[in-house]
Amino acid sequence: MEFISSRHFPDDVQGDMILANSIGFLGMKQHQVMEDGTGYKTKHRQDLISSTDKNFRPVEMEFAPDGSLYMVDWHNVLIGHMQHNARDPLRDHVHGRIYRITYPSGPLVEPAKIDGASIEVLLDNLKLPEYRSRYRSRRELRSRDTDEVLEKLQTWVSNLDTEDENYEHHRLEALWVTWGLNKIDKNLLEYLLKSKDHRVRAASVRVLRYMGHQLENSQELLKTAAADTHGRVRLEAITAASWLPKENGLEILEVAGKHPLDRWMEDSFKFAETRLTGNFLDTAEEENLITTLEGEDLEVFAQGKKIYETEGYCITCHQESGTGLQQAGYPTLVNQQWVTGDEERLIKLALHGLYGPMDVMGNHYEGQVPMMPFKGLLNDEEVAAVLTYVRNAFGNKASVIKPESVKKIREATKDRNDFYTPDELLEEHPMK
Ligand code: HEC
Repeated sequence: MEFISSRHFPDDVQGDMILANSIGFLGMKQHQVMEDGTGYKTKHRQDLISSTDKNFRPVEMEFAPDGSLYMVDWHNVLIGHMQHNARDPLRDHVHGRIYRITYPSGPLVEPAKIDGASIEVLLDNLKLPEYRSRYRSRRELRSRDTDEVLEKLQTWVSNLDTEDENYEHHRLEALWVTWGLNKIDKNLLEYLLKSKDHRVRAASVRVLRYMGHQLENSQELLKTAAADTHGRVRLEAITAASWLPKENGLEILEVAGKHPLDRWMEDSFKFAETRLTGNFLDTAEEENLITTLEGEDLEVFAQGKKIYETEGYCITCHQESGTGLQQAGYPTLVNQQWVTGDEERLIKLALHGLYGPMDVMGNHYEGQVPMMPFKGLLNDEEVAAVLTYVRNAFGNKASVIKPESVKKIREATKDRNDFYTPDELLEEHPMK
């Protein structure tokens, strides 16, 4: 991801977010970013780039010193989360491209002087509209003599125009410079924590989170931030609290908890509380198990739900609702034969994975995205539980899968080292 921050591009797209996509949609999407209370909302503006080349893999982009946008196409047939062997011969070590994107009717930006520039010039670079130029200047300042930079920074800050609409921003840049030198300017930090601009206050709390140990009153400052009028500032305080020793952290959460927690804050608050109290089990909510199963079967179902919902297991692709993500190539598990039909077919695909074109409920999947094998991750009992879960959750209703059945199929297919293709499975076990 990168934010558009370059005078070479039109004014109205400044601050837009661009996002490289190498699965499903192959290209770069551009979204407008807007404030939305504690967080942000986005609105699709355009597909900046898209390709019909199936191996097009835009993976990284960055604005250059002249304001143009560089983009890297990794051009590789294999993608994923290490489903493929590191030595797979299909891994392409030869191809790849770097593109440069310009806005032909606008002039380029004159590159900021950074390498070899004086400290004064580097500090003035912090006023530039281009984020990347400011970022590179801050990095350069970190490599210069600390005392000299700090001294010149004082002068630079005191000479700033207080009427400048970016005055607060420039002072925040100055605070970041002192952070980069590992010598926080405490006065500046305290000023900025009281800034009129909530973005500056939130950014200052972030600095406090990392550098609070250099301040004697950081606890008090965080408590004030935890009661801020703006949600984003309170969210930063909650996050900072999660890193503190128990007593200190809980004290800050208590303050934050007296204010409304919106959807941006709830999870962070819960996480901070759990982390500080160590009560991982107490915070687990009563599971709402919706199914027709009963007794022992219900217990297996509950175990299966836990596995299904573990990050990186089924939920990550097929989603909590079981409905998958059609655009990303993850099919639905709701009310269809692959799940509720033939047991052996289902066990086989869960053990060995699935890779290749298929149709599910009228949707065609190109099969460019593989489902990884679970044979190495789950034992027989666990495979049986998670499959019992998917067969009886989301409104599905089908027989319970027994660990013995999984064991039998694991044994019968133990020499298999490859994904199943949907066609292969359908040949072995046709749909009824
Ligand atoms: C990395 C993402 C991913 C994970 C994790 C994953 N799947 Fe899949 N799953 C897929 C994809 C992609 C397909 C379709 C493969 C194809 O198109 O050939 C699929 C297909 C299926 C199918 C057959 C088609 C259908 O919609 O019924 C079932 C059943 C299934 N998965 C169940 C599971 C279960 C159970 C788990 C957890 C144990 C799981 N999957 C974990 C990505 C995933």
